[in-house]
Amino acid sequence: MSKNLSHVSIVVPDLEAAIATMRDVHGLAIGPIKENLKQGVRLAYVDLGNGKIELMQPLIAESPVGRFLAKHPGGGLHHLCFGVDDVPAETDTLKQKGLRVLGDGKPAYNVHGEPIAFVHPTDFFGALLELEQNSAGPTEKTLGIRHES
Ligand code: CO
Repeated sequence: MSKNLSHVSIVVPDLEAAIATMRDVHGLAIGPIKENLKQGVRLAYVDLGNGKIELMQPLIAESPVGRFLAKHPGGGLHHLCFGVDDVPAETDTLKQKGLRVLGDGKPAYNVHGEPIAFVHPTDFFGALLELEQNSAGPTEKTLGIRHES
């Protein structure tokens, strides 16, 4: 199965401030702010062409990303993400190899409606690893996801 680096994700305390820094200091174009209510986060992406930077701000304190920000009030590197062809197939393969895949076993989706999964940091050199399906089509596209204009 081929893999690419989809994105590196950074948790920030103030998404608007982070967007301004990306734009004004680093000269990078950034997409619109999106909300993933199921994951409890607001997000914006910088597309570098060969990979993206995901900026994430928690919407609620009592969520995984909210607790991460409480531990790292200035923000911090949160996870990296492989793009794969088939998330369920890849997670099955990794589970067979003894890796721990997070969650309740139900499918999860990103703001683009693509299936995602997370591998426990203990099984990936201490870093949280996300798997994201490349070009998944319109499935579950609007499930719990709202776009800010
Ligand atoms: Co991500």
